Amino acid sequence: MVPFSIDPDKIILGIESSCDDTSAAVLRGQTLMSNVIASQKVHEQYGGVVPELASRAHLQNVVPVISEAIRQAGITREDIDVIAYTRGPGLLGSLLVGGTFAKGMSQALGIPMVDVNHLQGHVMAHFVQQPGEERPVPHFPFLCLLVSGGNSQIILVHSPLDMEIIGKTIDDAAGEAFDKCAKVMGLGYPGGPVVDRLAKEGDPRTFHFAKPRIEGYDYSFSGLKTSFLYTLRDNLEKDPLFIEKNKEDLCASLQETVIELLMEKLERAAEDLHIDQVGVAGGVSANSRLRQAFVDYGERSGKAVFIPPFSYTTDNAAMIAMAGACLYAAGRRSEMTDAPYSRITI
Ligand code: KG4
Repeated sequence: MVPFSIDPDKIILGIESSCDDTSAAVLRGQTLMSNVIASQKVHEQYGGVVPELASRAHLQNVVPVISEAIRQAGITREDIDVIAYTRGPGLLGSLLVGGTFAKGMSQALGIPMVDVNHLQGHVMAHFVQQPGEERPVPHFPFLCLLVSGGNSQIILVHSPLDMEIIGKTIDDAAGEAFDKCAKVMGLGYPGGPVVDRLAKEGDPRTFHFAKPRIEGYDYSFSGLKTSFLYTLRDNLEKDPLFIEKNKEDLCASLQETVIELLMEKLERAAEDLHIDQVGVAGGVSANSRLRQAFVDYGERSGKAVFIPPFSYTTDNAAMIAMAGACLYAAGRRSEMTDAPYSRITI
């Protein structure tokens, strides 16, 4: 349950366009009626998201994706009560497409809109329910490890409207570490899912990479990335086929190190702050080993752990609609003049 009441009959259309996924979702109360995501394949050949291409693809996708979300929900446009859209952080051009569409639709239908912080959306994914489902949800306050391509943060969630970042990466994000290490191994983009797949066939104890010593609950992944690069460079001098022969063990060792770093700080924060509810969110929470690490942690510590369904791990509009429902219930409304923001914290 969320701390203030969400009208179970309110229909919210969520729109997400912060990076390279165009998504629209319809939520009735907390229940998901549709969640449509169009991923952009165009970036694969460049090894990373190209902002200009992302905004163009959003322009092409936004109308069909929203129409499909409304169709799959079995409603008409006139049934929508509120529009929630991602205002930031993200790529400005991408955010402009979803935000401008939300504003136009809100004007045309004469309904209110609320702007959502993308990072808060990831955290609120824990509260989305499928029809007929009563998935356990975290109680407040809880800790949420938010790990994606752009963020690695430990968030103390006091309420849907009050979130405090108590630890964050001082350089690269965990997803970025996966993506960059995968790129130098020639595994394509995004590398995280490929590392996850290959790691299943490898031995995580084969290679040892540098682990940083950072104060408090902050993270650092750039040293690990450099250590990984040096391991490749030194071994490739001796054997040009080193990567090909060892890619499973390299992936397993890299993945294990990232997850050890993530869990170590999170567990320490939970102990220090006496928090017994711990969740994970963001694209990297799709990682099978990280999900298992959460299950193991719950069993070991007796804490309640919350792992979102796969469909809410990467960018999606269901989480934006969910956060929007809470904001709307709390009285938040946004204006036509609200501009997107590329960088903002929680
Ligand atoms: O939250 P997200 O969809 O969006 C951005 O941050 O933009 O996260 C994407 C990140 C990428 O770095 C991707 O490699 C990583 O999530 N990722 C994974 C897995 N699936 C996605 N990392 C590790 N294992 C996975 N299975």
